[in-house]
Amino acid sequence: MRKNMVAGNWKMNTTLPEAQALISEIVHMVQDETTGTPAVEVVVCPPFPFLLPVGKLIPQGGSFHLGAQNCHQKASGAFTGEVSAAMLQSVGCEYVILGHSERRQYFREDDELLSQKLKAALAAGLKPIFCVGETLETREQGDTFKHLEKQLQDGLFHLSNEEFDQVTVAYEPIWAIGTGKTATSEQAQEVHAFIREQIARAYDAKAALATSILYGGSCNAQNARELFSQPDVDGGLIGGAALKSRDFTDIIKSF
Ligand code: 13P
Repeated sequence: MRKNMVAGNWKMNTTLPEAQALISEIVHMVQDETTGTPAVEVVVCPPFPFLLPVGKLIPQGGSFHLGAQNCHQKASGAFTGEVSAAMLQSVGCEYVILGHSERRQYFREDDELLSQKLKAALAAGLKPIFCVGETLETREQGDTFKHLEKQLQDGLFHLSNEEFDQVTVAYEPIWAIGTGKTATSEQAQEVHAFIREQIARAYDAKAALATSILYGGSCNAQNARELFSQPDVDGGLIGGAALKSRDFTDIIKSF
């Protein structure tokens, strides 16, 4: 179901006390400043060890939801150091980010592996936030659409209609992540419209209209309103600015 969404990807940041302080501040600010009901679904994705304690500080049954940053592709077993989708579900996670460019780049996650992770997440009842995005080199070569089409085809569009219903897509141009260099709202809109068109082609027009597509990459309190005002931009996946309660709250209030 398409909805406005702001998701905070905390990446490998915060200690437990910092994580607890951050979520408490965000919850209080949002409650105080939006009469308790922001016009948007808020997803917070802290590091694995903080899911449970952060989840405890999130008001239940409201706009706040818990997400993880990754999961393993197998349900359980001898995979030292890994975390399964069912484990995440059992500590209150509803969402899981998959295919983030940092996972693709630093941990060699390819489309085949991501396909398996998507299946594992869905089997455990998690809703995937599936990331796609191009490098600066790809953009400058004029291959952005070709690249995105391949990531969607090979990584995502193997899902059935029912499975795909559970997916949120995030467009994160790699050149904009953590660089302070945001895509312009026109660039974001152009790509989001393209992604929606690809969904319509792979599934149908109804599925395309029902999918939330988030923008990520140096999204902040100053540029969020302009980005979110684009017809095909349904919200943001926020990195750096999600670690500052004032900024993240302002982004949530940007709809
Ligand atoms: P920044 O907002 O820090 O650019 O990170 C974006 C991101 O990677 C979110 O997943």
